[in-house]
Amino acid sequence: MAAGVAHEINNPLGNISLYTQMLLKNTDDENTKEKLTIINDETNRAAQIVKGLLDFARQSEPKLTRIDINKEIEKVLGIMTPQLKDIKVTTELEPLPRIRADSGQIQQVIMNLLKNSIQSIKKKGELMIKTATKNDYVEINISDNGCGIPKEDLNKIFDPFFTTKEMGKGTGLGLSISYGIIKRHNGSIEVKSNIGKGTTLTIKLPV
Ligand SMILES: Nc1ncnc2c1ncn2[C@@H]1O[C@H](COP(=O)(O)OP(=O)(O)OP(=O)(O)O)[C@@H](O)[C@H]1O
Ligand SMILES: [Mg+2]
Repeated sequence: MAAGVAHEINNPLGNISLYTQMLLKNTDDENTKEKLTIINDETNRAAQIVKGLLDFARQSEPKLTRIDINKEIEKVLGIMTPQLKDIKVTTELEPLPRIRADSGQIQQVIMNLLKNSIQSIKKKGELMIKTATKNDYVEINISDNGCGIPKEDLNKIFDPFFTTKEMGKGTGLGLSISYGIIKRHNGSIEVKSNIGKGTTLTIKLPV
């Protein structure tokens, strides 16, 4: 239902954007141009939010195969190299048993967590990624030395649409989608954070 509505909202948004761009081309008045540009940008922002909602509604059952979590982490780090340029990344990846999980979805989770860490870092960024085998689960730890999360926000960060990012930067869906994926793998995801010091997210997945 939400997905259907979201989809239909995209059509009028597309038309608003189209007509705004037509008006933009036909005017030389700077003040009008400025306002039309704002309408256009805000329309695009609404379209982005709708897109997020669609991705959220489309969350599918995991397609399980036997995967090595360390390999998935390395793949994601490879993809994200350009965004990690000024950040010192340390990995401590213990050899792991293969677990039954959806490779694409696990990569999506790791990517969301890394993206949050990158966005939380202002300068001299450091990221630490650790994996280990505990009794009957595999543990992934992703730590950063970023801005940290205030105590009163800790129980909200997994809620859909909770974001502290400036207008247009975040939709607040990254962690709620990740939470859903880990739950459907019968795993858990937890957060520990210190303001000004950094944040650690811990994922546990059953072997
Ligand atoms: N590593 C982190 N350091 C500091 N704050 C974090 C971290 N990870 C999450 N947060 C906080 O949790 C909020 C929700 O995160 P989430 O990934 O769900 O949404 P978002 O990053 O704001 O937007 P989106 O992921 O949709 O682009 C963030 O806005 C931020 O306040
Ligand atoms: Mg995010």
